[in-house]
Amino acid sequence: MDYYRIKGGKKLKGQVRISGAKNAALPVIVASLLADGETVLKNVPDLKDIRTIIKVIEYLGAETDFNVETNTLRIMVNSIKNGEMPYELVKTMRASVYVMGPLLARLGEADVSLPGGCAIGERPVDIHLAGFEAMGASIQLEHGYIKARAKKMKPATFTMRQVSVGATANLMMGAVLTAGSTVLENCAMEPDVVDLGKFLNKMGAKISGLGTERITIEGVKKLSPVTYTIMPDRIEAGTYLLAGAITRGDVTLTHCVPEHIQSLIDTLKESGFTIETGESRVRIAPAKKPAGFMIKTLPYPGFPTDLQAPLMALATTIQGISVIIETIFENRYTHVGELRRMGADISIEGNTAIIRGGNRLMSAPIMMSDLRAGAALIVASLAAKGVTEIRRIYHSDRGYENLTEKLSALGADIRRVKGGTF
Ligand code: UD1
Repeated sequence: MDYYRIKGGKKLKGQVRISGAKNAALPVIVASLLADGETVLKNVPDLKDIRTIIKVIEYLGAETDFNVETNTLRIMVNSIKNGEMPYELVKTMRASVYVMGPLLARLGEADVSLPGGCAIGERPVDIHLAGFEAMGASIQLEHGYIKARAKKMKPATFTMRQVSVGATANLMMGAVLTAGSTVLENCAMEPDVVDLGKFLNKMGAKISGLGTERITIEGVKKLSPVTYTIMPDRIEAGTYLLAGAITRGDVTLTHCVPEHIQSLIDTLKESGFTIETGESRVRIAPAKKPAGFMIKTLPYPGFPTDLQAPLMALATTIQGISVIIETIFENRYTHVGELRRMGADISIEGNTAIIRGGNRLMSAPIMMSDLRAGAALIVASLAAKGVTEIRRIYHSDRGYENLTEKLSALGADIRRVKGGTF
């Protein structure tokens, strides 16, 4: 298995182009199953999760052609079928549950393996299932598979008991072809959900209220395939901003949407970093003496849980106390043990992390436990004294396109080494 070798201490400098958003591309790719014909998606990042979801839709009957040079994905749909996807295909990725929406909408049946995915808490899918039940589906769990059946989907008003990105996206896809008016309450307002909604509307759907707590879907008879450009990845953008911050460098993100990472920008500004924003650019310059901060992860537009781990890496380098409260997932501090191995002083009480920062991080052999924990370790290693070796980097392959190339271009000393022992 490959591993990263990072020699820390280089101040990052220069520009980095942000890729298309993984979490927008995943549901959009699946939503292409809703129309017969050729869908063309641009700005699709070449990532392991994207390759997996492509295999998933191929299994359901789509033909695809992914040009990774141009990040263009062509999807041809003639007819789709339901079928128990091999567990091997879906076990690594929770987003595979997204196929339920389109399959129920078009075929009235969906067999989906209970999803795996990041090791961050329980992550049940009960809200997805309750929503589909409200829309007329009957749900059974058999041998690790969800079997959903609906003779005829019906419009419904459904309130999610908790804000869920995945359930909002899935239920939207499930409702677009149902005659009548479906109203979803307590929806996720994440840009990724809005991007999916814009894609569906371009195909001919009638969805209103995107980016608000209430989404209304007026069912249409048929959707048509379109060409669509995936929005930029706000979590990748935030990660590179934090890589700039932790090395006290001068980094400019291009091809991003600054508004999507406003909560991070505000936190960094409060801490003392200089940040300039343009239409699709964000520049971070070093802070003279950054100060500790306090954040709580929340649904959008609050601080994103996916940036909590790399933000904690930054906090370890800032003199004084920072406090981070994780409210979205219950087990999202798996990076803490590894950061401690690098010399960080972090204590955890319940869902609160208290970071006493300021001592320089030191290299240590460390291991990724999930995608964003992995991002924290990479960010930390960029600032650490010595050479850090990071294992299990298949986690970061799920979500960061051309990571080595992008960081090297900013001046980082990072190498991907082939063939580690574990
Ligand atoms: C998506 C993102 C992930 C991000 C998360 C929160 C994708 C592919 N992944 O994950 O990167 O960290 O949003 O912004 O887009 N929950 C339930 N029952 C459900 C659904 C969710 O209890 O049926 C809970 C989850 O366990 C979690 C919270 O709701 O505690 C939010 O989860 P959700 O927004 O659904 O996350 P995902 O869509 O899985």
